[in-house]
Amino acid sequence: MISQNTIQQIQSRIDIIDIVGTFVKLKKRGANYIGNCPFHNEKSPSFTVSPVKEIYKCFGCGRSGNSIGFLMEHEKYSYVEALRWLAQKYNVEIEETETTPEQKLHQQAADSLYIINNFAQQFFSDVLLNTEEGRDIGLSYLKERGFREDVIKKFQLGFNPEARDSFTKAALAAQYNLELLQKSGLVTVRDERPQDNYRGRIIFPIHNQSGKVLGFGARILKTNDKAPKYINTPENDIYVKSKVLYGSYFARQAIDKADECLLVEGYTDVVSLHQAGIENVVASGGTALTPDQLRLIKKYTNNLTIIYDGDGAGIKAALRGLDLALEESLNVRLVLIPDKEDPDSYVNKVGASAFVDFIAANKKDFILFQLENSLKDAGNDSTKKSAVVNQIAETISKINKTEDFTKQQDYIKQASQLLKIEEEGLHALVNKFLRDKITKEENRIGRENANDAFLKSEQPFEIEDDALFLLNKDEQYERAMVRSILEFGLNEWNEDQKVADHVFAEIDNNQLEELIDNKSLITILNTYKAWYNAGMEPTPKTFLYDENLEMAALVLSIMDFSVEISHNWARVYEGKIHTREELYKEEVFSTLNYLKLRKIKRLIDENQRDLEKAQTDEEQLVLLQTHQHLKQMEIELTKQVGMVIFR
Ligand code: GTP
Ligand code: MN
Repeated sequence: MISQNTIQQIQSRIDIIDIVGTFVKLKKRGANYIGNCPFHNEKSPSFTVSPVKEIYKCFGCGRSGNSIGFLMEHEKYSYVEALRWLAQKYNVEIEETETTPEQKLHQQAADSLYIINNFAQQFFSDVLLNTEEGRDIGLSYLKERGFREDVIKKFQLGFNPEARDSFTKAALAAQYNLELLQKSGLVTVRDERPQDNYRGRIIFPIHNQSGKVLGFGARILKTNDKAPKYINTPENDIYVKSKVLYGSYFARQAIDKADECLLVEGYTDVVSLHQAGIENVVASGGTALTPDQLRLIKKYTNNLTIIYDGDGAGIKAALRGLDLALEESLNVRLVLIPDKEDPDSYVNKVGASAFVDFIAANKKDFILFQLENSLKDAGNDSTKKSAVVNQIAETISKINKTEDFTKQQDYIKQASQLLKIEEEGLHALVNKFLRDKITKEENRIGRENANDAFLKSEQPFEIEDDALFLLNKDEQYERAMVRSILEFGLNEWNEDQKVADHVFAEIDNNQLEELIDNKSLITILNTYKAWYNAGMEPTPKTFLYDENLEMAALVLSIMDFSVEISHNWARVYEGKIHTREELYKEEVFSTLNYLKLRKIKRLIDENQRDLEKAQTDEEQLVLLQTHQHLKQMEIELTKQVGMVIFR
């Protein structure tokens, strides 16, 4: 923590004209200064700074704030980073408060690593540009690949000589500590001798947001070698891979201006695109994007365009974790580079303007891209297909911020066209995922708040995984049956009986455990029955307000899922749409029948297995008779089943 005293000192020295003037060309106009707004593109200046009020305001885009706010907005600094920048500018010594010994140690290690990296970067650049070996081997390689010297210098590329320990020697001679050199990844100790880790490699320094070197990527020159193509800095106090995007330091202003961030795989892709004048580009290093990296991008823009090779495994990696991007309201688009090229080789091949045109013309929405791809993978396999439907519904359900409502509607429309399913159906499914998410959240909160002994008792209610549940038709029918009794149990079945009487009589004839697999559902039915037999009139509400929160959550999720009346249903009722309330008998009947039929089918299978194992003729005969009998029951039940389809 920076001390209050330091903050006051900084504040007393702040000159907003000086600070903003570092980044924006300002002209005096009356009492104020004006310039072109750094936050949006404009031709005539509407960006105004008032030295008296110590604020800036743009009359074009409306952004305004004080000096610290300006640094935070323009440089994407945190508050503390902005203070540090100001302290350095105005020579204020920073007084830290409340640093623990650990923090201090970490800070010291971090500082030393930055210093070592800075030394190393200069060493490698010097070798590349100013030594015979560097020029003959490193620079000529880079030139052959088409990299210009100005870009090589901008990115501070370098070369580590072939000799065993050129860098190590220089670093030790400059009094750098061996332990820290090892921590930095630049030096390794082999056979008790310290040596260079990146021998004979091209060096790509990796910069943090303010341009300091965090680490390095080191590329081998000979391709046929068994050694890895790239060696990267190991994780240490300053290099945390999951938080770094290569090129972000050089890209940030361009990203801000373009309101778009291009994401590529490799170091060379970033450098080449810069060289072509496309500067809003960062690289992930070919792994899945992490939440921290997404947040870094989101600081600058909501528009992420991923540009990867068409056939690489990289694209699969990149797509993982992107659901998170949706929750963060990022618009993710995708461009695949054709013909086994990568962005680096492709821009070199076709040139900058054709490259830009290609990107613009081939941007695909990532969600729809993913959908098309998995549809291709699924082929005609209906299980896989339904998994795809669930996947896309779940993905779309994650776009649930109010401001993204139209976007969500749009996706439902486009996805249902691709899937050749009804838009309403997909809509209902998306809503289901939304509700499940809410239920799960409530359930979680319920569990966290619960110090109720009953909740912790031995009845474990598993709330099933959504996709699994949706894929499992049997489970749907089990739930549907339970729901029909919860909802219609007190309705009349016939003159003498209520629905509950009928259902429990059927259940008693069939054995509950043979009709229903899900233990939680069995518990619900047993609870209903106990209440009903005790003279209560249970309704879904009785469960929803019960102290058993997990049972309540399960009932809620059962009551929730949307029901579609199938085409079958419409045919049976001659095109007239009836509500579930009107048709409750059919619903009770058909769900129960489905489960009875399932039981019979299982018995048939079991019987079949026994038949294969039968030893004697008598045994066989009995089993065959059983088979006949079961088959007859199956036929009868089949005639009656299949009127309601639950989705
Ligand atoms: P060039 O082949 O020189 O154009 O480099 P590239 O960036 O195109 O390499 P490639 O497409 O093979 O890999 C993309 C990115 O993945 C690289 O920039 C690295 O960040 C990373 N990468 C590639 N190979 C390795 C490796 O062997 N080890 C590690 N740690 N990372 C690698
Ligand atoms: Mn490449």
